[in-house]
Amino acid sequence: MSASAPVPELADRAAACAERLRAADEVLLASHIDADGLTSAAVASSALERAAIPHEVVFEKQLDAERIAAIAETEYDTVLFTDFGSGQIDDIVPHEERGAFTPVIADHHQPGDADTEFHLNPLLEGIDGGSELSGAGAAYVLARALEGDGDNRDLARLAIVGAVGDMQDQDGELHGANAAIVDDGVAAGVVEGGTDLAVYGKQTRPLPKLLEYASDVQIPGVTNDHNGAVAFLDGLDVDCRADGEWRRWVDLTADERQTVASALVKRAVASGVPADRIDDLVGTTYTLTAEPEGTELRDASEFSTLLNATARYERGDVGLAVCLGDRDEALTAARTLLRNHRRNLSEGLEFVKNEGTTTEEHVQWFHADDRIRETIVGIVAGMALGAGGIDPRKPILAFANESDTEVKVSARGSGALVRKGLDLSVVMREASQSVGGDGGGHVVAAGATIPRGEVEAFVAEADRIVGEQLG
Ligand code: C5P
Ligand code: C5P
Ligand code: C5P
Ligand code: ZN
Repeated sequence: MSASAPVPELADRAAACAERLRAADEVLLASHIDADGLTSAAVASSALERAAIPHEVVFEKQLDAERIAAIAETEYDTVLFTDFGSGQIDDIVPHEERGAFTPVIADHHQPGDADTEFHLNPLLEGIDGGSELSGAGAAYVLARALEGDGDNRDLARLAIVGAVGDMQDQDGELHGANAAIVDDGVAAGVVEGGTDLAVYGKQTRPLPKLLEYASDVQIPGVTNDHNGAVAFLDGLDVDCRADGEWRRWVDLTADERQTVASALVKRAVASGVPADRIDDLVGTTYTLTAEPEGTELRDASEFSTLLNATARYERGDVGLAVCLGDRDEALTAARTLLRNHRRNLSEGLEFVKNEGTTTEEHVQWFHADDRIRETIVGIVAGMALGAGGIDPRKPILAFANESDTEVKVSARGSGALVRKGLDLSVVMREASQSVGGDGGGHVVAAGATIPRGEVEAFVAEADRIVGEQLG
């Protein structure tokens, strides 16, 4: 089996974790509340189920010392952490040492200082956890090692949704270990990767909306311009309507798609959109081939947003059920949550546009108070940084109230800043700890929770550390 391990560097760690899980009578599976965390849980839960290992699944917004202590209080001897655990390992190991439980960790975040025997994390083997393997990918590597009655390669589809949900397809496609998982999914017949227009909503959005809301590459007269988008489509030699209704991208033939895409690129060039941005209009689309055409579930990017719409609103159970195959009640509930999530994202972006950011020497920031839910303030910050309107050359810190005593902060940077030395996981951990909070994450996207009165001190410290990193 190890000969066909999807990520050979992780094969030994995966085998050790799998063996430990097989030895357990019962497992508590704890995972993170976002698209990657949900798909991690779905992959791990399916694999445990297939290996006939009894388990229960719980989701946590953030795994802090208090949550870990609560987990230690439960009766479970074995706890599988997915999409978190590495960053909190310093808080987990003391519980292990006093015999509360054995941790098994499948994660991709920056690890803390302690270590433990059953720890599967790409960063421990020189693989980038921010761009080459997601939490769901780590869970998939574990699932392959667990193999129950099959080889679990069909679960690659969920690992890909997780990677896309964590935006690991930054320059248009998945790389490294993620690409190996795509190959598994293709071989298993559950995934197809194809070059296509890199715009969100190809399965479900009517064409004018698809173009109007495609904000990652701004095309004057089309982006954020409903009439402009309609006029553009009406000017093409393609019938974009059927029976009076707008067609969607999936409804077009390959030739029609080619026509629309070329016209769009031509329009972008004519409007002076820079060449590197024009390249971003095209990328690899990951299609889940077993799902019905024209649904959110067929496209990895739309699927991941559907999952965020559940998990980030305390309905991780709904998203998990959809991942596990519920196409009935759970899917209906998820779609309702999605409408709400979309509205919140668009209101959040509007807020940032109207309020702007406060600029320090090396960072910029805004405080949404209660205007943006703290579980999505990071998504809003990332979209604002990517979609223009604010200076993309400085990392953004986005604050929102978490409780009466605490503030959540999400930090987002860019690939260009990371190449210059930016590491937001270090910034978030050190700046938050300096004011009595805690945080972590990835080089390009990280977060923290800090006491309410410490925002200013936190910004000053974060600004100083970013200055050091970029200097
Ligand atoms: O928990 P964590 O791994 O899930 O989340 C990663 C976060 O980082 C996601 O919200 C994702 O959108 C964000 N990200 C980003 N830019 C990247 C890579 C990830 O904003 N280039
Ligand atoms: O919600 P999620 O983090 O998965 O969103 C990933 C990307 O999908 C966003 O950065 C945005 O470009 C796009 N998106 C969108 N419209 C939505 C939701 C997401 O364009 N309603
Ligand atoms: O919450 P947000 O989307 O901003 O999180 C960005 C990244 O930072 C995620 O990978 C998340 O797991 C991580 N994070 C963390 N510790 C925190 C908050 C966020 O490691 N306290
Ligand atoms: Zn993740």
